[in-house]
Formats: sequence, structure tokens, C-alpha cells
Amino acid sequence: MSSSTTSGDGAITVHLHPDAFEQSLRQEVADGLTRFPKELSPKWLYDDLGCELFDQITRLPEYYPTRAERKILETRADEIVRLSAADTLIELGSGTSDKTRLLLDAFAGAGRLDRFVALDVAEATLRDAVAKLSVDYSSTEVLGVVGDFNVHLDQLPSGGRRLIAFLGGTVGNLHPDERATFLAAAASTMTPGDTLLLGTDLVKDRRRLVDAYDDAQGVTAAFNLNLLDVLNRELDGDFDRSRFEHVARFDEDGSFIEMRLRSVAEQQVHLASIDLTVEFARGEELRTEISTKFRPGSVRAELTDAGLDPIGQWTDPDDDFALWLARR
Ligand code: AVJ
Repeated sequence: MSSSTTSGDGAITVHLHPDAFEQSLRQEVADGLTRFPKELSPKWLYDDLGCELFDQITRLPEYYPTRAERKILETRADEIVRLSAADTLIELGSGTSDKTRLLLDAFAGAGRLDRFVALDVAEATLRDAVAKLSVDYSSTEVLGVVGDFNVHLDQLPSGGRRLIAFLGGTVGNLHPDERATFLAAAASTMTPGDTLLLGTDLVKDRRRLVDAYDDAQGVTAAFNLNLLDVLNRELDGDFDRSRFEHVARFDEDGSFIEMRLRSVAEQQVHLASIDLTVEFARGEELRTEISTKFRPGSVRAELTDAGLDPIGQWTDPDDDFALWLARR
């Protein structure tokens, strides 16, 4: 089921209706909070305030990935656009599409972008981005799709030579099995000649990794704790934020940062609209995100396993972050 609206500010198609979103939240919370260890998907972090807090995170001194990826795009966007030979740009998990402007500018320079399609779960952020982009890139058709990149890949517009961009290292939020499924699904929606531009954060000094997810100003802590307010609002819950604390740690074996919310006391939380009571032991943690840190060789292998052919790989001068271009 989907609905579309068009206005002077660009067109929006909604694949993920508020009721479907609510339904999947209920389902996931009922599963994730009754499991041990407790875990929820990071997509629930991005309500309007969550999007705003993430935007602040991208400007923190400790949070290097956004700046590193931007640096690569600043020097390589022209080359990426040329190699892709695309006339359609599709961005998954687009958020504000800020860095994507570097690609859009490069396409404008090459004079050949017919269409830009942005897909995100965060409807208000997407509408705002699409409205601004359709003004700033008026010779390109700008479309917004409210959807989940794990569910709605096959509903993206087809036709033309497509470049699918998945930036920011968001692919690292997926567990290895989910990642393999996602990459295979992306490859299967691509037609030969289409390309995938994939951003991956890289393994580095543990201190820098942890600091990037536990900043001195506490913005990442606020971003993580905001999840409890989302659950309270959406599911009529009674989480008390002051009884949880933000935890960021690096798991060497899995090569991922974990964000968790740790219960500082033994407590019960009630979510009235799903009639669920959840017990937390003192010190018990709820995992809210993994953010995988890759080694270049493993990304290459994962792309190849998905049936994609890596045709370009670029890192920033500090080797903090890598962008990959892979062709179907
Ligand atoms: C938007 C998913 C790329 O994993 O680094 C930032 C989200 N979480 N700080 C990341 C995030 C905590 C971010 N991504």
C-alpha cells in the first residue's frame, strides 16, 4: 500500500504509513524487550528530535565519520559520477541529504541527472529535505519515498541508469546476516550497469571509536536516551530516563560499536498500549544500535559475495572512512 502527493516542493510517496510504522514498532518492542539480551533496532531512534540530535552529532568534534566521508566526496564526487554513468541517483537512509549535495553538484556539472530519489523512515526530515532539494536542483526531478531500506528496496522507481547511494556508514547498523541479505537484495534490484555507492566506517584506535559514540557534551547520550521517550509516547510507556544511562563500547570480536541503555536500578517498566511489563535487573542493558567498523578487505569480499563488482574505493587522508563503488 502506498500513497503519493505532489506539490511544488517535490513529490513524496509514502510506503511506510504511520499505522504500519506503529504496527512494526509494537511487534519489535514486544519481541526485543522480552528477549535476553534485550535489543531494539536503531531505526526507532529517528523521530523528529532523534533526527535533530543526529544532525548535531554529525558536527561534534569526536564524531569523525561525517567529516571524513564529506572529504572523500569533496575530492571524488566527479570521478564517482563519471564512473557510475548514471542518470538517476537513489539515496537510502537519506536523512537531510546534506553530503549528497556534493554528488548532486557533480551530476549538475556533468549535466545529466534526470532524477533524485531519497528514501528514509523519518517522514518530516525527508519532506523538509525534498522541499529544499527540489528548489536548489530545479532541473532534476526530486522524489521522496517514506520507507525502510530493509523492506522497500523493490519499490524504488526503476528505469534509467541508477546509482544507489548508501552513505554515512549506515550499512554498519546491520548485523552480518542482515547485511548479506540487504546487499543481495540491493544487487537483485539493480540492473546490469547500475552501481552502488557504499560508505563504510573503518577500524581504528579504540579510544577514538568509543569517543565518537560517547561525546563529552552528551549529545549521543541524549540521542540514545530519546528512544525511551519515543517508546513512552508511541506505546504509552512509563520509562524514567533518569533510571537509565548511555553506554558505548567497542566489541573487538564483532568489530562493532554498541550503544546500550543500562538500567541503573532494578525496575519494572510498563508499556500500556501493548500491555507489556518489562523487568530490568540493576545493570541490565538494552542494546539500541550496533555500528560496524570494517576492514577494507572484508567489504570487498561482501560486495563480491552479493554479486557486485567493486570498481572504485576511496578513503579520506586519515584512512578513517571508505567509500566503495560497485557495479552490477
Ligand atoms: C547514522 C547510522 C551512520 O552508526 O555512526 C551516530 C548513527 N549512532 N552516533 C552511526 C549514530 C550514534 C550513525 N549512522
